[in-house]
Formats: sequence, C-alpha cells, structure tokens
Amino acid sequence: MNEGAGEEAATPLPGERLYFRQLLAGQDIAARDPIARQMVNFVYLIGDRVTREAVVVDPAYAPGELLDILEEDGMQLVGALATHYHADHVGGNLFGSCTIAGVADLLERISVPIHVQRDETPWVVQAAGVGRDELVEHDADEVVTVGAVPIRLVHTPGHTPGSQCFLVEGRLVAGDTLFLNGCGRTDLPGSDPAAMYESLARLARLPDETVVYPGHLYSAEPSATLGETKEWNPVLAPRSPEEWLRIFAG
Ligand SMILES: [Fe+2]
Repeated sequence: MNEGAGEEAATPLPGERLYFRQLLAGQDIAARDPIARQMVNFVYLIGDRVTREAVVVDPAYAPGELLDILEEDGMQLVGALATHYHADHVGGNLFGSCTIAGVADLLERISVPIHVQRDETPWVVQAAGVGRDELVEHDADEVVTVGAVPIRLVHTPGHTPGSQCFLVEGRLVAGDTLFLNGCGRTDLPGSDPAAMYESLARLARLPDETVVYPGHLYSAEPSATLGETKEWNPVLAPRSPEEWLRIFAG
C-alpha cells in the first residue's frame, strides 16, 4: 500500500481518477536546500486525472518546482491546502533564522485560492505574509472538490489552533497532527495538548485500512496504514486524556 516518495501512483485502473503524489522536500524538490534536507517535509499533490486539475498541500520550499512537476504531469494547479501555519509548511520565517518560500511565492506565480481552516487564518496571514483576501476559510468537515475528487477537511487542533488533515479516497494527509511514530509538538504558540488528545482520538477512529501520509519523514517508511501505525505509535496508546497529558503534554 505504501508508495515511495516522489513516485507517482501506479497507472490508474479504469474509472480511477485520483492523482496523488507524495514529494519529499530536500530530495524530490529543493534538493540542494540544506534547510529542506534537515526538515524533511512532505508536499502532496492531489488531483483528478480526467479533468487534469490538482491542488498542492503545503507548498513550501520550491513553489516553482512544484508547478514544473504539475506541468510535466499535464496537471493544472487550481488551489493550495494548508495543514497549518508553520513556515516549513506555508513559508515564512523559521525560528527567526531563515526564510522559507511558500504560499506568498506561489501566489506571485499563479493566482489560486489558499484553503485554510478558519481558526488558522490570522496565524497564516502573519506567518506566511499573505493577505486575508487570498485565503479561503473553511470550517470542520467541509469538502474541497478538485475535478470530481472530494477532499474532506478534518479539523485537528492541538499542534496549532487550525491544524487540519485531508481525507481523500482512504488516504489521510495528516500534516503535523499525526506522524507514523509520534505527533506534532504541543508546546508551540497556539498549541493545545488537550485538544491534541481529542484530535488524535478522532483520527484513530478512522478505518484501520486508511493510509496515513504524514507531514514529515520522521520514520523509515513514508506512509503506513492507520492500523499499522496504531500498533507502534505511542501517542495513540493512551485511553484517557489524563493519561495522554501526563505522558505527552509539554
Ligand atoms: Fe508544524
């Protein structure tokens, strides 16, 4: 079920429309960028092979290269989805030390809507340097449709107030909410450990065959089923908020 980073999904069966690519920053894009190689972010391209439309999830580091990849694939960018406001996902200043390209640079090249969770809007505006009018705000469980491919927006606060994951055809693009062997930090501005426990519990109730695609390559594998992840991921083990907070908060 796993797909190697950078490889396009296998040739679709008749009627299978999903276009889905997992790209590793520092390898598949921004290959010579030392920050990208250190941060090991994943960028995702999701689209409809019939209408040739696609969106990009977290277009950081090299927006121009992402547009080139889409063009090579014969796909047209129609929007961007942001999992959360951090610079390694949407661009901006990282730890006050360097600036990462992101949605602001993308918008200089192409005019597309940037889809964010409503609670994340002020954070994205400040961090990524984009205008509020360039963002499309969404509430929990709204659907963004690309061609005929529906992408459900799952609000998962905890790492940040408006963190969101994306569900598309049995795949969960999980941002920094759920890694294969851990979860996003809960000690950053806007973090909420108690909300993170609830968000993880919500994700854990998805079908075990759901394939988790994380926001960073922090494990040997680039993806795994939720069932597999549950077997080894310690952040999914606690059965109460009190237990989770005692072990992981901070
Ligand atoms: Fe983050």
